[in-house]
Amino acid sequence: MLAVVPPPVTVRAPAKVNLHLAVGDVRPDGFHELVTVFQALSLTDDVVVAPADTLAVTVRGEGASSVPLDHRNLVWQAAELLAAETGREAAVAISLAKGIPVAGGMAGGSADAAATLVALCALWRLELSRDELGVLAARLGSDVPFALHGGTAMGTGRGEQLLPVLARNTFHWVLALAPEGLSTPAVYGELDRLRAGGDPPRVGDVQPLMHALTAGDPIALAPLLANDLQAAALSLRPALRRTLRAGTTAGALAGIVSGSGPTCAFLCADADAAVRVGAELAGAGVCRTVRVASGPTPGARVVPGGVET
Ligand code: C5P
Repeated sequence: MLAVVPPPVTVRAPAKVNLHLAVGDVRPDGFHELVTVFQALSLTDDVVVAPADTLAVTVRGEGASSVPLDHRNLVWQAAELLAAETGREAAVAISLAKGIPVAGGMAGGSADAAATLVALCALWRLELSRDELGVLAARLGSDVPFALHGGTAMGTGRGEQLLPVLARNTFHWVLALAPEGLSTPAVYGELDRLRAGGDPPRVGDVQPLMHALTAGDPIALAPLLANDLQAAALSLRPALRRTLRAGTTAGALAGIVSGSGPTCAFLCADADAAVRVGAELAGAGVCRTVRVASGPTPGARVVPGGVET
């Protein structure tokens, strides 16, 4: 009898921006204690999984040439982890279509890992709850649980312990992508170095930002965007100051470095303003390219019928 080969499964997963990122002390495990508010954006990666003889990863799209295709890739680790947990072979072909910048501070690798977990659950017909998947996600990386969760959420611990946050309205963003990525551990390391040499100001209480999100008011939200990693990213990449200035000059309400950078995220008053700011920034010579996006958007989810490849 012929075995029926299940059809490929496509999952779409979002980029994130940290609206608030308070970095605390280094823990004994080397991670920093965080209080952060994530928002998932309409900038996405698509991950397609299909049965194969062995585990293999291919990548196309944004920054594809710098993505590893072996065990260093989080999707590889996600497939091996889920296979080991469920007692099967990780014999799948995983194809990534990148829309999220690589090493851009937008958790693109984490989005791919979350998407792989969801896709393999569907392909292998596993009955895992979102909570069970969340536990596996946290083993893969600090931002992977949020990529599963999506929406707007507060993250504590190393960022993996999530609570949903009520955010009324859609917020409109312009993202300025840099010509070269930044390494997340290097940016955390630079923050430790800056803190050892003095005490740079730290971001304040998260509560006012929560109120602005509940009110759904971008004008109230803009001055509350804050990121402790920004000083470290600017120290490693001083040219980002110009990018941040250019965004607000172009009419954004506020600009911040996204996570560990170097992507800069600009909050705009509405969708039209975002298109205008995006066009002006694209011509200002301060970034490689520009994307307009909105949030919050859902976490990693199956795309019914897949996507054109
Ligand atoms: O968890 P993830 O693998 O994404 O983290 C990448 C790196 O970022 C860690 O190895 C660590 O250097 C740094 N990090 C940190 N504290 C966190 C999250 C990440 O120091 N809460």
